[in-house]
Amino acid sequence: MSVPSKFSDGKITVPSLLHRKSLRPEDATRITCLTAYDYPTARLLDEAGVEVVLVGDSLGMVMLGHETTLAVTVEEMLHHTRAVRRGTKRALVVADMPFGSYHADIAESVRNAVRFVKEAGAEAVKVEGGERRLELIARLTESEIPVMGHVGLTPQSLHAMGGFKVQGKTPDAAEQLVRDARAVEAAGAFAIVLEGIPRELAALITRELRIPTIGIGAGPECDGQILVLHDLLGLSFSPLPKFARQYTDLGEIISSAVREYCQDVRRGSFPSDMESYHTPEPRAARKEINIDVELTD
Ligand code: KIV
Repeated sequence: MSVPSKFSDGKITVPSLLHRKSLRPEDATRITCLTAYDYPTARLLDEAGVEVVLVGDSLGMVMLGHETTLAVTVEEMLHHTRAVRRGTKRALVVADMPFGSYHADIAESVRNAVRFVKEAGAEAVKVEGGERRLELIARLTESEIPVMGHVGLTPQSLHAMGGFKVQGKTPDAAEQLVRDARAVEAAGAFAIVLEGIPRELAALITRELRIPTIGIGAGPECDGQILVLHDLLGLSFSPLPKFARQYTDLGEIISSAVREYCQDVRRGSFPSDMESYHTPEPRAARKEINIDVELTD
């Protein structure tokens, strides 16, 4: 069988990410990941060189306006993953499995994960949780579905954690997190997100594991970093967490463009004559105007 050309030309794949971890630290560059939820942002991220695009269930909060990620459904995730897939050529597309889609029995979880690959074009899925996901991650991996793990501050465990709180701060909690990360690796995951944990603990886990660690609120020693795109762009309507960096204020750019448009419409300066179609002079004088004319000049 010949190898599809999609997998050459710098296409980011699961093996290529694993290979990065095997390089000497001085030869390895950090892995760039961001969330995306629709076609235009996926396309912009991909063309800007982002290597992993995560269709995060954070879309429940930043795209759908929920307070938490818990309400997001499989159908919603599939819908957004399809759009991201259409906008992405080079980056690896990872889809988050939403709360409840992998918490009942393993067979149902595998069926749900298969939908992300088969119906939406995801190249991997992400599941939250450590040791308790060992069997699930192993079964998904055996089913040829690459898995990204996610430990630490796992937003789907919001109620169990008692809020969005930094995890792994006590020696016991830190030891448990190391066990969780090891379990995720042993089960066959190809990468693991470390969220909301002390920098020192993330650095230790990063040294321990043979799979890449992707940090969010976990300090700079991780093998890669991820942020929620809306935080980076200034499109989230809440105060940013300490770990996030806002690179631009797209919210203000959009608001000011829309205010300007409204002003132009109100005072009649939009559309201008240049932005209007014109009736062809000689024929208009002779014939009735045909309102079905095509909208080209
Ligand atoms: O849902 C999400 O966006 C995530 C990332 C923040 C890791 O899980």
